[in-house]
Amino acid sequence: MKNVLSCIQPTGDLHIGNYFGAVQNWVNLQDTYKCTYGVVDYHSMTMPYDPALLRENTWKMVFYLLSCGIKRENLFIQGLVPEHVELCWILSCVTSYGELQRMTQFKEKTQQLQEKDKDAFVSAGLFAYPVLQAADILIYRADYVPVGKDQEQHLELSRNIAQRFNHQFGKEYFIHPEPLFTETPKILSPADPNKKMSKSLGEKHYINLFSEEDRIRKQIKSAVTDTGEAVEGEMSPGVKNLFEIIRACGNMAAYDSLMADYTSGALRYSALKEATADALVALIHPFRERLNELNANKTAIQAEIRESSAVIRQRAQETLREVREIVGLC
Ligand code: TRP
Repeated sequence: MKNVLSCIQPTGDLHIGNYFGAVQNWVNLQDTYKCTYGVVDYHSMTMPYDPALLRENTWKMVFYLLSCGIKRENLFIQGLVPEHVELCWILSCVTSYGELQRMTQFKEKTQQLQEKDKDAFVSAGLFAYPVLQAADILIYRADYVPVGKDQEQHLELSRNIAQRFNHQFGKEYFIHPEPLFTETPKILSPADPNKKMSKSLGEKHYINLFSEEDRIRKQIKSAVTDTGEAVEGEMSPGVKNLFEIIRACGNMAAYDSLMADYTSGALRYSALKEATADALVALIHPFRERLNELNANKTAIQAEIRESSAVIRQRAQETLREVREIVGLC
């Protein structure tokens, strides 16, 4: 069976854009591949952060992922597998300064920090971030890495690093990981449907998968439909986004009937919004139930994830044993 690996940062929230764009796909891939999914807390240390909150958010993300259907044995916390950092160091010695400088995500994040404060502290960790990501991937010999287009450059770097390592040490050791770009629905911000749903835009711009029903309904009710720059004969991005959410939730009956109304000019936005909220609430309901169950057994679940991380760690240790041998460590 081919290996699939992907990781997510513990940002504290899992929004419906993350769910439809990634997590739902991760859950499905578990039927076909040997899947390994990480909550990457080391990565979240690259930007200014609060230690207590990092730990809390790491567990929160673990519980969210489990609630969505990620299997326990496939899930690990990166910080419990310190071999990632050792491999990161070794790989950083076959990565050039120049190629890291070309990473657009590094440039964007640096800019973000400096917009807030022109003397902002930009860590070497932020610069090395893509090498840690390459370590995540190569340490488990991943064949496929399901990621969004925004991670394409990092994936390409991972392949280049694998290739350079192999070349430098004269051994076809690391396999070349391929990105897995599955068609996933692109969910936009309800408050600004010209932008992708994202937590960094602010609270109005994303819908947390585990919000209270009331909040979800309110957020959908206030979603922007017409932006005033409507193109004749074209559906506005806000309306399209609501249709997209209904479809992503799998409620095709509602989708088809509302689409027929749209075509005939009889669509009321209030009806569209109500159907969108209904579809979301129905989708999320079982996730919330599962989350409540998991939270009721919090300590036991945490122990299970420590255990699954320990089992996954053995694979990482095996790789490190071989790598240390190859690169000349004692
Ligand atoms: N950089 C990825 C993101 O921001 C997260 C990530 C870290 C990742 N390590 C990874 C994704 C390894 C895929 C494989 O989304």
